[in-house]
Amino acid sequence: MKKVLVAGATGYLGRHVVKELKKQGFYIKVLARSPEKMKMQGKHLEPAIADDVDEIVEADMTDPKSLQGCCDGMDYVFTSVGITKPSSKLTFMDVDYQGNKNLLKEAERAGIEKFMYIHVFKAEEIEGPATEAKQRFVDHLKSAKVPYVIVRPTGYYSDMAEYLQMAEKGRVYLIGSGNCSINPIHGSDLAAFCVDHFDRENEEVDVGGPEVLTHQEIAETAFRCTGNKVKLTHLPEGFLKRIVHLVKWFNKPYYALGMFFLNVMTMELVAPSHGEVLLESFFKEYLNHKNK
Ligand SMILES: NC(=O)c1ccc[n+]([C@@H]2O[C@H](COP(=O)([O-])OP(=O)(O)OC[C@H]3O[C@@H](n4cnc5c(N)ncnc54)[C@H](OP(=O)(O)O)[C@@H]3O)[C@@H](O)[C@H]2O)c1
Repeated sequence: MKKVLVAGATGYLGRHVVKELKKQGFYIKVLARSPEKMKMQGKHLEPAIADDVDEIVEADMTDPKSLQGCCDGMDYVFTSVGITKPSSKLTFMDVDYQGNKNLLKEAERAGIEKFMYIHVFKAEEIEGPATEAKQRFVDHLKSAKVPYVIVRPTGYYSDMAEYLQMAEKGRVYLIGSGNCSINPIHGSDLAAFCVDHFDRENEEVDVGGPEVLTHQEIAETAFRCTGNKVKLTHLPEGFLKRIVHLVKWFNKPYYALGMFFLNVMTMELVAPSHGEVLLESFFKEYLNHKNK
């Protein structure tokens, strides 16, 4: 039985990865800074996983001492650790770059078989601190002694839920025309893709979900699921970019995330298609659960 260390196991993708590993019969050790979170379902219906894990190491990836020995006896390491919400204390360089680098150092010391990292599709085209930190880690990983797999997904259904929340309130704000396409992916489909790619070696793989939709079509799907009338406001892209650049001077965490989302919502993000869960079914399940 292969042993896997999962870092990021309290997050959207990490929880789905733990479920998939369990389904496929792996021994699962998780690295978490707040293990109690694993007992509850996540905000975007990602599963509770407390009963699926074999071992827990309580650690913060920015604290190398807390990671000591965490990879010993493991075959694979998976990390989806990264900043996805504004944080006043830590930067993308602290977590996405240095935190993952701290884990990689442990993985190298333990002589693990494979290190899987979750990157971002078309990262090289997305300007800003988030992708700079991730790309810097990827460059480091590629020169490390450990065989790697780098997975580059498009967008997750958890992020598409923002459209649903706006549609519930009666109006969706789109950046620019809303005509750029994306094939977002459900956490469970992406998790299955990741686990099935542990046997690859020194590869970067791009992946998206089963449907290609424009942002306007995603908004329309969200309205259809809520039963509300379609009301869209198109915000001018250039104006928003100028505002986000101004934010840089007084709130760096919001600037960093703002740049990331502005960029990904105004570019074509269509990667090789995988999976079967449709966005509309995720939206319906999300609403059913919320209104229970
Ligand atoms: N959302 C998208 O559309 C998308 C698309 C492509 C790539 N990605 C990337 O995929 C990755 C996973 O995304 P996600 O939506 O699953 O993120 P998420 O739900 O925010 O999960 C992030 C995980 O990282 C952990 N973490 C953060 N800082 C940590 C630290 N200092 N020490 C230990 N653990 C730490 C979090 O732990 P806590 O629970 O304790 O906070 C959480 O388990 C991210 O790097 C993201 O940028 C996302």
